Amino acid sequence: MASISDLLKARYGCDETHGSGAANPTLETLLQHKSVRNFIPQALEPGTLEILVAAGQSAATSSNLQTWSVLSVEDPSRKDKAAFLCGDQNFIRQAPLFLVFCADLSRLTRVSQQRQTAGVGLEYTEMFLMASIDASLAAQNVSIAAESLGLGICYVGALRNNPREVAELFHFPDRVIGLFGLAIGWPDPADTASVKPRLGLDEVLHREIWVDDSGKQANNFKSYDNALASFNSGQKREGIPSWTERCARRVATVESLSGRHIWNQVLQERGFDLK
Ligand SMILES: Cc1cc2nc3c(=O)[nH]c(=O)nc-3n(C[C@H](O)[C@H](O)[C@H](O)COP(=O)(O)O)c2cc1C
Repeated sequence: MASISDLLKARYGCDETHGSGAANPTLETLLQHKSVRNFIPQALEPGTLEILVAAGQSAATSSNLQTWSVLSVEDPSRKDKAAFLCGDQNFIRQAPLFLVFCADLSRLTRVSQQRQTAGVGLEYTEMFLMASIDASLAAQNVSIAAESLGLGICYVGALRNNPREVAELFHFPDRVIGLFGLAIGWPDPADTASVKPRLGLDEVLHREIWVDDSGKQANNFKSYDNALASFNSGQKREGIPSWTERCARRVATVESLSGRHIWNQVLQERGFDLK
């Protein structure tokens, strides 16, 4: 079993870490996560989809309202259409299983109708937030479960590039919307991608109160730009802009949202009122 210290070194891309001792299998799975974008053409074992979704349903859920659903795609021609709508990312076609995680307020709309209540609460931004949070927690449980079985995963936020077409492809009813996809399959053993370093712990962990220190943050950014630069050169990925450069570009203009600037409008169209 790997040592905590070695796993943390890889996770932060530096030699100084704050952990020692042996990891347990759960920590090993979590700390060794890496997105997989190369899958071999091998089917999942029967029952895998069901156990993964059960793991997803085991996540905590706000007030036990369970305001999410997941749609599974295994049919190659439908997967091809989904891949096309998701930035034409080929690993979606390769993966034997593509899951679409949805905010689902249609279920509680029906419950309200059955119980003859107005369901006014469903018209507020809070309920969309709740559904998105619950769907994300479930998806992360599915991801960890998949990784614990030796499978690889890659989230697909590009599902939000074409929300209307995605809704049409999957026949989503009112008050159901696809938030992101998740490609799942057997990793190609020839893939040399390794664990990608994250921002230093100090940058994301605020103890007791938030200290807004721009000087410290500038140093943190510099360290992380360096850590990712050596990660990329170790991966033989040349010419990649620094992390700060990529982040700044990613939020620089409306165009950098890849078509996702329409989301407020699409949510209204699909029955999420967001009052
Ligand atoms: C919600 C979400 C959406 C993502 N969308 C995509 C995507 O569309 N395409 C892709 O290649 N990776 C996607 N990713 C993967 C991230 O790029 C990846 O997690 C990040 O670069 C960190 O790398 P790692 O997962 O290997 O640690 C997404 C991740 C998340 C959490």
